[in-house]
Amino acid sequence: MSRVAIVTGGTRGIGEAISLALRDMGFQVAANYAGNTERAKAFTDKTGIPSYSWDVGDHQACLDGCAQVASDLGPVDVVVNNAGITRDGVLAKMSFEDWNEVMRINLGGCFNMAKATFMGMRERGWGRIVNIGSINGQAGQYGQVNYAAAKSGIHGFTKALAQEGAKYGVTVNAIAPGYIDTDMVAAVPAAVLEKIVARIPVGRLGHAEEIARGVAFLCSEDAGFVTGSTLSINGGQHMY
Ligand code: CAA
Repeated sequence: MSRVAIVTGGTRGIGEAISLALRDMGFQVAANYAGNTERAKAFTDKTGIPSYSWDVGDHQACLDGCAQVASDLGPVDVVVNNAGITRDGVLAKMSFEDWNEVMRINLGGCFNMAKATFMGMRERGWGRIVNIGSINGQAGQYGQVNYAAAKSGIHGFTKALAQEGAKYGVTVNAIAPGYIDTDMVAAVPAAVLEKIVARIPVGRLGHAEEIARGVAFLCSEDAGFVTGSTLSINGGQHMY
């Protein structure tokens, strides 16, 4: 039986590319999504990868969703915490709700998914958790105190949980993508994005598949000695 992998936010954007890359490696993939049922259905119809709807910011929903995947496909050995949202705005204009929602989903989602799966991985002596952080969690970004804090938190979460998983064969790593050509980045005002791209030494936005290849490596047998690390894939925009 092939191992089971859950990719949160796995039906579009970077998550879609990750789902496909893990499927191509031989994993049985379950793609989680939050609310875009139409897009998820199109993804499942096109790829044959089952999609499951739950809110990663909801603790009980994660426990129930992961239990459902385990009952359908088998024990979960790989989790890619990719689901994330932006609610950009300068602090002066940012509401508490915009702060809280980004923390709840982007950072809380990692905790919720780990609580649902990490102990099982530990018992079975093998596991891979890959958390999608961000260049903006490493370097900060004007107008993103919520997102930068959540993503920076993901990097700390990764290093802490890696220490707990290491002796059980469970690795925990992060990827810090730069600006990738997804819907999320397309939502950045054009004039602002132009200035950001001008600061990327490689001279372009990244592609989702370029992040997925990094995730695939971290989920492979070959990466058993890699844990607590952050792989920056950002076109040289931030060298850290
Ligand atoms: N550094 C310094 N000053 C800046 C700045 C920056 N990076 N960006 C904007 N400013 C300044 C502007 O020049 C402007 O100054 P003046 O008032 O003196 O002219 C002032 O800040 C206000 O700028 P805006 O008109 O842009 O303000 P706004 O309130 O309309 O919008 C914003 C603010 C929502 C933050 C908008 O600038 C924005 O969307 N910025 C992009 C944020 C960003 O990069 N988000 C990333 C999303 S993708 C992602 O997060 C994925 C990932 O992991 C990489």
